[in-house]
Amino acid sequence: MLKVVGIVGSPRSEGNTEFMVRTTLDKISENGIETELITLHDKNIQYCSGCDGCKKTNKCVIDDDMQELTEKVKEADGIIMSSPVYFGDMTGLAKTFIDRLRPLRNIHAFKYKVCGAISTGGFRNGGQETTIHSIYDFFLIQGGIVVGDDRPTAHYGATGVGNTKEDDIALATCNHLASRMVDVLKKINNV
Ligand SMILES: Cc1cc2nc3c(=O)[nH]c(=O)nc-3n(C[C@H](O)[C@H](O)[C@H](O)COP(=O)(O)O)c2cc1C
Repeated sequence: MLKVVGIVGSPRSEGNTEFMVRTTLDKISENGIETELITLHDKNIQYCSGCDGCKKTNKCVIDDDMQELTEKVKEADGIIMSSPVYFGDMTGLAKTFIDRLRPLRNIHAFKYKVCGAISTGGFRNGGQETTIHSIYDFFLIQGGIVVGDDRPTAHYGATGVGNTKEDDIALATCNHLASRMVDVLKKINNV
């Protein structure tokens, strides 16, 4: 069975980002795809120390929750990375998580992964697209297959403003990101 993992890069529990990721995963699971939501705020994730050990061993020398999280990302067929906007970009927590996934780059683990992004901010035009752009940089450098949200919205993935439970456009983009990911996942996996 295909599986999509959704990563919540907010330091807040049950916040606006988490709601959008949950909405997107729920829609994906309606299409016969297994899903798992992973929050980062409750994990022990240390900074990459830049030791380059992973270049030799394909493993990180730091023994924390990233060992298990890296395996979950490695095994998934699709990845959703999300973050609220913090000063026009992703949170430090999300970036720390991304940096620690460097061992997967050496083995091109993202080669056939379908990758989508979600971002939400306090204001319209608050940096949702620049945050998503940073997430796309990560996906592209990992060698993943990046998709946005499906028609009729069809732009930069899923974006929200304010309380996302009451943001109809955010929910539409979540649903359309889900349908685009399902479409590409099924196509490339011959399902
Ligand atoms: C340190 C900090 C910086 C922020 N910077 C921005 C920003 O640049 N643009 C914006 O629209 N919202 C900004 N916000 C607001 C959050 O993106 C917003 O409250 C979001 O809904 C939080 O998502 P969460 O509930 O998933 O944590 C910032 C919030 C914090 C705490």
